[in-house]
Amino acid sequence: MKTATRRKGKLENFEEEYRSALREYAAGGGEVALGHAYELGRRALAEQLSVVELASLHHHALIDLVRATEDKQQKEGLLGISAEFLAECVSPYEMAHRGFQDAVKALRQLNETLEEEIKRIAYAVHDEAGQLLVAVHLALADVALGMPEAQQAQFTRIKELLNEVEKHLRRYSHELRPTILDDLGWIPAVRFLADGISKRANLPIHIDATVSGRLPTTTETTLYRIVQEALTNAVKHAKASNVWIRAWREDFTQCCSIRDDGAGFKMRHGQGTPRKGLGLVAMRERVSAIGGTMRIESSPGHGTEVSVRLPLEGNDANTNRTRG
Ligand SMILES: Nc1ncnc2c1ncn2[C@@H]1O[C@H](COP(=O)(O)OP(=O)(O)O)[C@@H](O)[C@H]1O
Ligand SMILES: [Mg+2]
Repeated sequence: MKTATRRKGKLENFEEEYRSALREYAAGGGEVALGHAYELGRRALAEQLSVVELASLHHHALIDLVRATEDKQQKEGLLGISAEFLAECVSPYEMAHRGFQDAVKALRQLNETLEEEIKRIAYAVHDEAGQLLVAVHLALADVALGMPEAQQAQFTRIKELLNEVEKHLRRYSHELRPTILDDLGWIPAVRFLADGISKRANLPIHIDATVSGRLPTTTETTLYRIVQEALTNAVKHAKASNVWIRAWREDFTQCCSIRDDGAGFKMRHGQGTPRKGLGLVAMRERVSAIGGTMRIESSPGHGTEVSVRLPLEGNDANTNRTRG
């Protein structure tokens, strides 16, 4: 309540200053008065005045000014003059908007670099570690040649273990950056991931995906990463008994939700993510980098649901599919 009163007081002060600065400019105040307009714009932005509030305030100030002006010619000139004043006052908003766009662009680039890095690691695990294991197999076979019969069984066991290691490494590298994500799309990639996690963690994962066709590359990668983090959380933190993944389309929006029936957690008031951890924060950033929204619902004992909505149109960075 106190905050509301304080805001109202500030707004009234601001309005008064705006009126007098506009009058000053209309009376031929020139550059100095324009500088005042810019300063007022900066303050309005800092005090979180919306552009609509600013426009309405300008509107009232202009009406008063027109009423107070008697000369007909002067009256007619007021509209143009006041528009100049308003444009100057709004320019800090424009700059902030440009800064926001730059930040989003930087975030997108960062995500692309991250994806490249993940690809590199996935290939390194798959190819390099795979080749090393082949070399180990060969070296062992050499050693085994000169071994007495009794120890051969032990060697066979070691070979079996090595085969297991190889199988797991291959599986993890594919999950890290599945080639089917590029080749077949995010739903088959999510099914592949869910299948692996489901078997390893003995966790039923139910998938209800009614969408078909491909989405822009960035959107597909984002969706895959969201599901990957949510599934990892469901195993690691929730100790869930079931997970449900749903994907559906609403006009020009791709929606997806991942829900578990596990431990849940206490949400911080007014914050969409818990205090610790980076996974959910990174998810939110990935989603906002492509203009989407994300919602987390969770409470202790009642499971967790992560839902995202991603726009499918007007996303320039989304249209640069390289394959498919
Ligand atoms: N599905 C979930 N069930 C229960 N707790 C969760 C779930 N997802 C996240 N949390 C809680 O939120 C915290 C932050 O998660 P996250 O940002 O993914 O980071 P991290 O997984 O690295 O801890 C976790 O440490 C956990 O306490
Ligand atoms: Mg996590």
